[in-house]
Amino acid sequence: MITLNTKSQHIYLENREELKSTLESLYESKPSVVIFCDKNIEDLSFLPQTLQKHVKRIKASEKLKSFKNIKKIYQYLQKIKATRHTHLLLIGGGSLIDALGFVASTYLRGIPYSTIPTTLLAQVDSALGGKTAINLAGKNLVGSFYWPEQVLICSEFLNTLPDREITSGLGECFKYALLLKEPFNKEISLDTLKKYGNFKSQIVEKDPFDSKGMREVLNLGHTLAHALEKVEGFEKWRHGEAVLRGIHFNMFLSMKLNLISIEQFDKLVSSLANFEIPHLSLHTSIGKLTKSMQKDKKNHNNHISILLFNKTLDIEKFLIERKELKRYLKEYVRNY
Ligand SMILES: NC(=O)c1ccc[n+]([C@@H]2O[C@H](COP(=O)([O-])OP(=O)(O)OC[C@H]3O[C@@H](n4cnc5c(N)ncnc54)[C@H](O)[C@@H]3O)[C@@H](O)[C@H]2O)c1
Repeated sequence: MITLNTKSQHIYLENREELKSTLESLYESKPSVVIFCDKNIEDLSFLPQTLQKHVKRIKASEKLKSFKNIKKIYQYLQKIKATRHTHLLLIGGGSLIDALGFVASTYLRGIPYSTIPTTLLAQVDSALGGKTAINLAGKNLVGSFYWPEQVLICSEFLNTLPDREITSGLGECFKYALLLKEPFNKEISLDTLKKYGNFKSQIVEKDPFDSKGMREVLNLGHTLAHALEKVEGFEKWRHGEAVLRGIHFNMFLSMKLNLISIEQFDKLVSSLANFEIPHLSLHTSIGKLTKSMQKDKKNHNNHISILLFNKTLDIEKFLIERKELKRYLKEYVRNY
């Protein structure tokens, strides 16, 4: 019987020197390696000399997560005669790892890979759950569960990350703080990365293929977030910004549905005060947004599944009729 690997080894590293020596020992005995690295990672001194010649630079953005662009990667692998024993090392943020993780899971029916996530969002969230994906008419509609052998998390990469990308990553961090019912601190240390990473991994281990509903809490804020990214565009919304807006809307909706008190709502919302989050455009069709929310994988008939806060501030799933949700979303846009 073949057992599918549903776990990765997570290695946390303070700096590039530690990363370099870890890579040296991990890759010493690998017969064939191909490294795909985000073009915006300028300093490659963390790569041992022997690995530098295997680097292929990739322009990474949401656009990379398309059939058209991953076809070029398959063709490149074919051109360099990559075999089932070729190990891919993916260095970059969530878009590069999502797209090329999908390539790893499908090229020659799956080849081994490891990742070095370089954005806060990828280090704390997207690189940790074994999900790979590309986009179709909706986000992440084609993908696989395919775990990297190692995830190497080095906080030094965050030093070159643009402010907006940091805020985006803080969106997912804020989600973890709410789920853990802990105060939120914008200063993210390696220990905080570990804490949030372990929290996610524990949930993923119990439900690796997202089939028991246990991973659902990790989608807090994502119902509206995915619709905003689709309808208003990835240029306007970085993923974590959209998640923050989605969480804010969830707080509002929980209050409107009397699941939480106005005092609880005020307190929850005050924890978001330090963030600069884009607003929904008054010109955006609310109908388009709710339609897009309904297209999400987890919905039923005319109802939309959404995670809300209950009176003990735990997260619970609710099904809300599309028309009703549209009405609340209209009210939300008028107020915020
Ligand atoms: N698989 C999952 O479970 C999961 C979960 C959440 C989000 N995601 C996906 O993650 C994607 C977003 O990922 P992201 O926010 O990491 O963005 P990204 O990968 O698009 O990177 C954002 C920008 O930062 C640049 N960059 C990356 N690392 C850098 C560094 N260290 N220094 C300077 N620039 C750097 C990139 O070149 C890019 O311009 C979305 O497609 C989202 O759907 C996946």
